[in-house]
Amino acid sequence: MGIVTAITIREEIKADQEAVFNINEQAFGRKEEALLVDRLRDSTAFIPALSLVAIYENKLIGHILFTRISITAAGQREATALALAPLAVLPEYQKIGAGTLLVEKGLAKAARLGYNAVIVLGHAHYYPRFGFVPAEKWNITAPFEVPAAAFMGKELFPHALDHITGVVTYAPEFEIS
Ligand SMILES: CC(C)(COP(=O)(O)OP(=O)(O)OC[C@H]1O[C@@H](n2cnc3c(N)ncnc32)[C@H](O)[C@@H]1OP(=O)(O)O)[C@@H](O)C(=O)NCCC(=O)NCCS
Repeated sequence: MGIVTAITIREEIKADQEAVFNINEQAFGRKEEALLVDRLRDSTAFIPALSLVAIYENKLIGHILFTRISITAAGQREATALALAPLAVLPEYQKIGAGTLLVEKGLAKAARLGYNAVIVLGHAHYYPRFGFVPAEKWNITAPFEVPAAAFMGKELFPHALDHITGVVTYAPEFEIS
């Protein structure tokens, strides 16, 4: 049995919240992302079924969150999609596959729930392995300056983004007050 099979993924429950805060704080080396997750739980963009934790030897070691975003362009109907953010694995448990499992299970669950696409702002060397490509392919852009290679999208079913283009609007909770 490989080590990856020992990691399980499940929906976050209330009792996990402190551990999830700690995972984000440790992974990013600062509190911003941990506080963001706390704010997002109270957001209308929050989807409880898409706040997932990774468990290894009965310990919470990772967390991923997908929240609702909209994509809008002049003269077009507003489209709903998901943002993947943040993704965090405790430093001492990185590189054993938890991040990969969180992304894969999250994408599969998002597809099952009927969402059409996921947008991520992240490492250009990490997300392409899951099928993410630069969102400029669909003329989907970030609401702020960002390197094109780091702003990526993935369709959850074929052609899901065919007629979707425009600027992403994140939940207001993403803005630091
Ligand atoms: C990114 C992160 C979630 C990956 O989690 P993980 O459990 O270590 O990931 P996995 O074990 O599934 O995969 C490890 C792979 O990710 C790659 N990786 C990890 N961090 C990376 C980074 N910052 N940039 C590019 N690649 C990275 C590793 O090189 C490794 O690649 P390989 O499979 O080719 O060897 C984790 O490193 C982390 O929490 N980082 C700090 C927070 C962060 O940057 N989050 C992502 C924001 S976009």
